[in-house]
Amino acid sequence: MAVATELAQTIIDPKAYSLRDPVDQAFRTIRAETPLDVASLEGFEPFWVVSRHADIKEIERQPDIFHNGDKSTFLTNIEGNQRVQMLTGGEPNLIRSLVSVDGLEHKNLRGIVFPHITPRAIRPLEDQIRAIANEFVDYMLSFDGECDFAADVAFLYPLRVIMTVLGVPQEDEAFMLKLTQELFNNADPELNRARAELTPEEMLKSLWETTMELENYFAAVTRKFRDNPTTHINSLIANAKIDGEYLNHRQMMGYYIIAATAGHDTTSNTTAGAMWAMAERPGMLKQMQDNPDLINAFVEESIRWEVPVKHFMRSAVSDCVVGGQQIKAGDWLMLSYQSANRDESVWADPFEYRIDRKDNPQIAFGYGVHVCLGQHLARMEMRILWEELFKRLKSVEMNGQGERTISNFVCGPKHVPIRFKAN
Ligand code: HEM
Repeated sequence: MAVATELAQTIIDPKAYSLRDPVDQAFRTIRAETPLDVASLEGFEPFWVVSRHADIKEIERQPDIFHNGDKSTFLTNIEGNQRVQMLTGGEPNLIRSLVSVDGLEHKNLRGIVFPHITPRAIRPLEDQIRAIANEFVDYMLSFDGECDFAADVAFLYPLRVIMTVLGVPQEDEAFMLKLTQELFNNADPELNRARAELTPEEMLKSLWETTMELENYFAAVTRKFRDNPTTHINSLIANAKIDGEYLNHRQMMGYYIIAATAGHDTTSNTTAGAMWAMAERPGMLKQMQDNPDLINAFVEESIRWEVPVKHFMRSAVSDCVVGGQQIKAGDWLMLSYQSANRDESVWADPFEYRIDRKDNPQIAFGYGVHVCLGQHLARMEMRILWEELFKRLKSVEMNGQGERTISNFVCGPKHVPIRFKAN
């Protein structure tokens, strides 16, 4: 068997993700008929589509067999892969970040920031983050009953939080937001660098230009924090040494870039998606206000629901069997977090947005040694925003149609028009 071509085309189509339903329906069929099978599409190296929660966990549990860094970590066609290798001198990823390295290199790099971003390490940030949340709640309420919650609040609040933690000054936030959107939303003419429909060749060119612009910016950051070290994450990256040596150029740039981009876009998508879900469900706001202890379940469900990172790729180093299928050394696999978070064998009602789930083993942060480094910060900042906003909001409903970004990688709502009343 193989994944039906029509289904395979849908699950890689950026426009289908912007509508969401076609992708959810395609994966529903894939989970039922070909849950772990090969997709063969013109212009692409064949790849396994891993659609079930349990199979993704099994693969991510074996990082010595399934590598991140041997091939592209997100789905790219053959031509794109060749061009990236030309630009990087043979590496399969434009950016050498934590998600595109393996083994000891990954362990060493992850160890630089990990101790500073555990639940215990970030607890002292709670008051500072609450003050930022209140600033954005005030800002939202200043809109006098109507706003685009995605653009006016959800894009900006996680941006301020992560930039504060990284040590990026507020005047650079707009620049960071723009470059992050260019990096993740290349297929979306509203948000990409050219503000136009791009050919695959133009997309790669613009990705390269954005990466270079980010690298120029971060070169100055390294100088600044080497001269004056602080406890900010960017300072940890600038001053870290492995075996007595500073990180090399690609490692350092990759680290700055992943922290500064993955550190807010994902959380923004989840926050915007949670508001969209709530604004469409009369009574949910009141339910949250009457049951404040549901807040963690609300956050967890919003992450499962939105799944801001749609997939990551792995490649097999040796032959092995997963989900009853024989995988061969060199095979490329797409781990679909979108699909795994709708897996009927894990949730009886995966297409319902339910804030009273007792057990919610969502896998939107991934799993295993590469599990999201910022997961605790993301959860904490979302919890705090909702705690503060729910105190101040009397009602909320949609005020027109929401819109999602055109992308098959990191994406979510880009417009969530709401009408609200404040207390
Ligand atoms: C709701 C918000 C977020 C979601 C859904 C999310 C999702 C993910 C996913 C799916 C991965 C890959 C995991 C894997 O391969 O198993 C990842 C990795 C990563 N995330 Fe997040 N993320 C979020 C927020 C953040 C934040 C706030 C930061 C900021 C520090 C961050 C930084 C990273 C980094 C550095 C990695 C690479 C980890 C590694 O490869 O070792 N993320 N994230």
